[in-house]
Amino acid sequence: MSKQAILKLDEKEFEFPVIEGVEDEKAVDFRTLRSRTGYISYDEGYGNTGSCQSEITFVDGEQGILRYRGVPIEQLAESSDFLETSYMILYGNLPTREKLDQFRARIHDNAAVSPLMSEALKGMPKDSPPMGVLGCLLSAMSCYNPDLATNDRACDLENFDESAAAAIAQTATAAALSYRISIGLAGNQPDPSLSFADNFLHLMFSEEGKPYEPVAEVSRALDLMLLLHADHEQNCSTSTVRMVASGGANLFASVGAGSNALWGPAHGGANMAVIKMLEEIRESGDDGSRFIEQAKSGKSGKRLMGFGHRVYKSFDPRAKIIGKACDDLLNKMGIDDPCLDIARNLEKAALADDYFIARNLYPNVDFYSGIVLRALGIPVDMFTVMFAIGRMPGWVANWREIAMNPKGKINRPRQIYQGPAQRDYVPVEDRT
Ligand code: ACO
Repeated sequence: MSKQAILKLDEKEFEFPVIEGVEDEKAVDFRTLRSRTGYISYDEGYGNTGSCQSEITFVDGEQGILRYRGVPIEQLAESSDFLETSYMILYGNLPTREKLDQFRARIHDNAAVSPLMSEALKGMPKDSPPMGVLGCLLSAMSCYNPDLATNDRACDLENFDESAAAAIAQTATAAALSYRISIGLAGNQPDPSLSFADNFLHLMFSEEGKPYEPVAEVSRALDLMLLLHADHEQNCSTSTVRMVASGGANLFASVGAGSNALWGPAHGGANMAVIKMLEEIRESGDDGSRFIEQAKSGKSGKRLMGFGHRVYKSFDPRAKIIGKACDDLLNKMGIDDPCLDIARNLEKAALADDYFIARNLYPNVDFYSGIVLRALGIPVDMFTVMFAIGRMPGWVANWREIAMNPKGKINRPRQIYQGPAQRDYVPVEDRT
């Protein structure tokens, strides 16, 4: 007999089934709680709530484990690349050589954004925040690719291969194009002979008569940064994608919403916030120790950006990988970045400090990804866009998981109302 949980409420006992995941994760299935008891479960911030059963990514925050489709992130970082990993995240298994070649070709074939979309981009203010532009463009992809975005589930799933490739490839193209437009330059056309990372750097930096020249270490660092961000189970943006998808919205509308959810500094905006914090510390002549004290006091409203994670409570395995890649990249490029020294000081001091130890606050992936991106010449205000390019396969795979579930329900949480109790309308002349 399968395990049951017993809840005692108002002198009555109720049994609820227990669900177990393949990695021993356990949940009490409360789906019938309200209909049987009249109560709902209350979990602001969803820290204890399983919103779905998913087959894509496994995270164990206590032990610092991250696996995409069962494969440890360390192995993927060592042996795979962003597109191969993306295929596995989307479709469930590592591709054969033939499938991988087809996938790469589909990505290249879908890389160009519609000329009409480029025109729309030119109409936006030059100083628009890049994440604002990206959110608009992803949603607008439903308008420029109506055949791929019908909001008819069966039809959208039939076109999934194309729409997934368009979302992954055109996010990168549109991001580079919007950067170039913002600094008054014409856009570059995607180059199918280049890898995903090199093509992006070419789209960003190639000039007339001076094409971007790939450098192996640079390509590898960018590819690794994208791979490490490719999925991360039910974080804020991915949950948003699933929420929107649960209402039947098409892929582009759903990932557009996810991209907007990523924007905030507590989520994808952290990589930008880390660099701004490091610059601020450097400019103030601090070596990091003053800032740490301010972050601990909580009074200044400051936090040590790039530290802490809702799920990882021992270490973020992505931070370990990218921290080392960051060192390698800067050494190979001969870059002496004073911000990296400050970052190292902060990391060392925080890891030995009781405040951070007691609250299980460790560096997260964004603590180092910002330094890597800066070394690659990516403007700071585009860092969160880079996160979005990396996270796209995860968002797309989560959209697909929702779309493929025939029993899926619209996501609709409840609340505990704490506003005024019923009261009468007062005409304006009688109000005091
Ligand atoms: N610096 C200083 N103190 C911190 C930090 C930090 N970075 N993060 C958490 N704390 C403290 C809080 O003040 C609180 O202290 P208290 O118990 O004395 O009140 C305690 O640690 C718990 O903090 P919460 O905000 O409740 O933790 P939560 O799990 O909700 O937040 C979050 C996680 C948002 C990531 C938080 O740690 C944070 O703001 N970090 C900085 C921003 C950041 O790097 N975000 C990137 C997340 S990773 C990603 O999206 C890829």
